[in-house]
Amino acid sequence: MRPPPRRRAATKMSANHDNKFNFEASAASDDSIREVHAKLQSNKPDKPHGYPALPLVMLGIMCCVGFFGSIYMVHYSIRFDPLVVNAHANRAKPGEKAAVTLTRAQLGKSIYTANCIACHQATGGGVPGAFPPLAGSEWVAGSEERLVRIVLHGLQGPIKVAGNDYNNVMAPLGAVLKDEQIANVLSYVRQTWGNNAPDVEPATVARIRAETASHSGYWTAEELLKIGN
Ligand code: HEC
Repeated sequence: MRPPPRRRAATKMSANHDNKFNFEASAASDDSIREVHAKLQSNKPDKPHGYPALPLVMLGIMCCVGFFGSIYMVHYSIRFDPLVVNAHANRAKPGEKAAVTLTRAQLGKSIYTANCIACHQATGGGVPGAFPPLAGSEWVAGSEERLVRIVLHGLQGPIKVAGNDYNNVMAPLGAVLKDEQIANVLSYVRQTWGNNAPDVEPATVARIRAETASHSGYWTAEELLKIGN
């Protein structure tokens, strides 16, 4: 069954009974279309104007973070102090001169603080009856052969240091510290608290490490006194 023919729009039909085109009616219908369009147009939401609140709040927060962050940095940054950031201070690209050159003793200070200070103390004075002093110690100023061995493999048993007797145990640090770290920390103890002995070189530590590779257990003072000068 065919659907009944659709009726034409009322506006067009209104004054057009004789099937002739009626210009007046057509003009009126254009107006009504414009009217409808104008209505539709006015229903559209307005374009957003001004700034929405959320991005403004975010911007404010970011400004605060930047502002207080800067204050924090000024107060607490280390200002690239080479004596603090010493791991990098001494490093220059090949062919370039390092801006700041630190001595072995300066580089050894942080290693001392991390590995020795608990027993031998910041003053190098040790603890009477328990930990012997490094300040004024003949072991520190004396043979580097013995000194390097003490740090590599540890020390135990009776020992006389600066006129006083000790009988305790120092743990080995050879597995913890690299050759250069041992050279630096020994240079530090040799040139601090009034001590005045030359640097220990990493090559010396490497040689002694290789020579004593088969040594097991801690050294005793008695054993060490037979080695070196
Ligand atoms: C856990 C405590 C302890 C730590 C940590 C320690 N030592 Fe010792 N050290 C001793 C003791 C104890 C002796 C004496 C051992 C003995 O009685 O035979 C000693 C002896 C020495 C001696 C020979 C005696 C003297 O006083 O001159 C030297 C040198 C030395 N230590 C250097 C170091 C260095 C350098 C470090 C860090 C890399 C270090 N020690 C870390 C406890 C320690």
